[in-house]
Amino acid sequence: MCGIVGYTGPREAYPIVITGLKRLEYRGYDSTGVALLNGGLKVYKKKGRVADLEENILGKNLHCNIAIGHTRWATHGEPSDRNAHPHTSASGKLAMIHNGIIENYAQIKKELLNKGYSFTSDTDTEVLLNFIEDIRKNNDCNLEEAVRVALKRITGAYCILLIDEDDPETIIAARKGSPLVIGVGKGEHFLGSDASPMLEYTKEVVYVNDYELAIVRPNELILKNLGNEKITPFITKLDMELAAIEKGGYDHFMLKEIFEQPSTIHDCLRGRLDAAAGTITMSGVMNNIEHFKNASRIIIVACGTSWHAGLLAEYVIEELCRIPVEVEYASEFRYRNPIVNKGDIIIAISQSGETADTLVAIERAKENGAIIFGIVNVVGSSIARISDGGAYTHAGPEIGVASTKAFTGQLAVIMMMALKIAKEKGTITDDRYNKLLMELDAVPEKVDALLKSADLIKIIAEKYKGAGDALFLGRGYNFPIALEGALKLKEISYIHAEGYPAAEMKHGPIALVDENLPVVFVATKDSYHEKIVSNMQEIKARKGKIIAIITEGDDVIPGLADDVFYVPTADEIIAPLLSTIPLQLLSYYVGIAKGVDVDKPRNLAKSVTVE
Ligand code: M6R
Repeated sequence: MCGIVGYTGPREAYPIVITGLKRLEYRGYDSTGVALLNGGLKVYKKKGRVADLEENILGKNLHCNIAIGHTRWATHGEPSDRNAHPHTSASGKLAMIHNGIIENYAQIKKELLNKGYSFTSDTDTEVLLNFIEDIRKNNDCNLEEAVRVALKRITGAYCILLIDEDDPETIIAARKGSPLVIGVGKGEHFLGSDASPMLEYTKEVVYVNDYELAIVRPNELILKNLGNEKITPFITKLDMELAAIEKGGYDHFMLKEIFEQPSTIHDCLRGRLDAAAGTITMSGVMNNIEHFKNASRIIIVACGTSWHAGLLAEYVIEELCRIPVEVEYASEFRYRNPIVNKGDIIIAISQSGETADTLVAIERAKENGAIIFGIVNVVGSSIARISDGGAYTHAGPEIGVASTKAFTGQLAVIMMMALKIAKEKGTITDDRYNKLLMELDAVPEKVDALLKSADLIKIIAEKYKGAGDALFLGRGYNFPIALEGALKLKEISYIHAEGYPAAEMKHGPIALVDENLPVVFVATKDSYHEKIVSNMQEIKARKGKIIAIITEGDDVIPGLADDVFYVPTADEIIAPLLSTIPLQLLSYYVGIAKGVDVDKPRNLAKSVTVE
């Protein structure tokens, strides 16, 4: 949560920082601020979006060669001008931005209050900044040393950037638990929560690790650990173009990302799946194949949409590989003293690779000797780096807060992994294996075909946009998809929605059914088809409105449902890759019809780096 940007070098810093903040708004967007040095420290901040701040400071002298900026997702203190970052120290000389939470801030604040400090905001950030200033003053040390001492005292998560009025070329940065990327240019450096703010200037970046501190000047990047030992910065080449983070003619990133899925799924399969040769190449899986083959169980940890991908993984891996799988909410797993033994396999699924709960959950499991396998979208992210092996989803940057193309990327990786392990383990017949490879290979084309009927979903969305609640039902492989459909609708349209196993519905949620309740059935042709038709009858008998996602050629459900959307035929294991897409479109079009800012719905952030 929260996006941070910094620049020091010969260029005008303000436009770089403000453009960078717009790209990072997916991380939080309740208030914005910049601090710059031009003949003194200037701080401008405001509740609202980056554009609001920009408009508010039109006409000010913003010329500068060093600046830091922040877009916030509130943790301590409501969204307001005074709680917006950057914060300024008591002396007025230091400005700091922060992404994360300082857990022991109350104790430190008490100490500072006793020393006579006062605070202008409700944030933990202002406490940490004054703590740093106090250490500098009392120990007569430089800012770098004061930051180091302060960071050793605090608990929690942080990525901080600081500038000092008396040192107009230097940005001090540090991270623990919140991401930080430093772009290396010629005589200039860029800092960001991800690489998007620096894409047009440099492709050379350094991913800063936890407990590292960076002293960043135009011609110098010094990296140290908290013990004050120098670390050689490891430069990585970025493989990302600016076009990938722009809307490319679409009204919203979410729509662009939904429509990108034929190519993102193709990119995920490319170089791995060769259906004609009957092979799957996944080095991350092969490097750990003996562990997978001999695993007595696999634990999957994830949050939100990634957790839904994990649930589908349970169904697919148990079916194909005959390995017991447990799927855990990372936020529960990390605190509930789970049984994790040496050699256990933990699969972490995460789009961002930075989700705090997932990250800490696997750190704990790793301490117990578990083998961590990451299914991650963002290359070089924290989860990717601490994993012992893994597979990237290759969906490209996902900017819309609602996860779409990353989810289908996760499903494609899971299906390939399960097939690969099953083949190596001998738990799948050659016929079934080859058939599923062919089916998987055909997915991008089928997604392309079904997207051509997107307008039909728009019509359905118009019809149901006034609903106050919705129920999403599915069975078997389509149950996780029903959960995901409900989550998407909640996020993007603010309609209360619940996902349920279709047969479980009669044990409670059926009480909600009346003529006003839309019930979305994910009911593609599979081994549960007759059963789900019976569940549909139960809803119809109670006058619920039925929207059904069904397979082309289904001639039963159209007679029962109020609205149907057809997806191409596919094996039941592969079908979720198709049935999820109309649900993404449904939430998008309902959200648009209701006037929601679908790329930045209220209260959410793309990357949840706080617990
Ligand atoms: O980056 P991650 O996949 O770890 O994020 C997990 C969830 O925060 C995320 O899936 C969230 O639920 C999305 N907003 C769903 O659209």
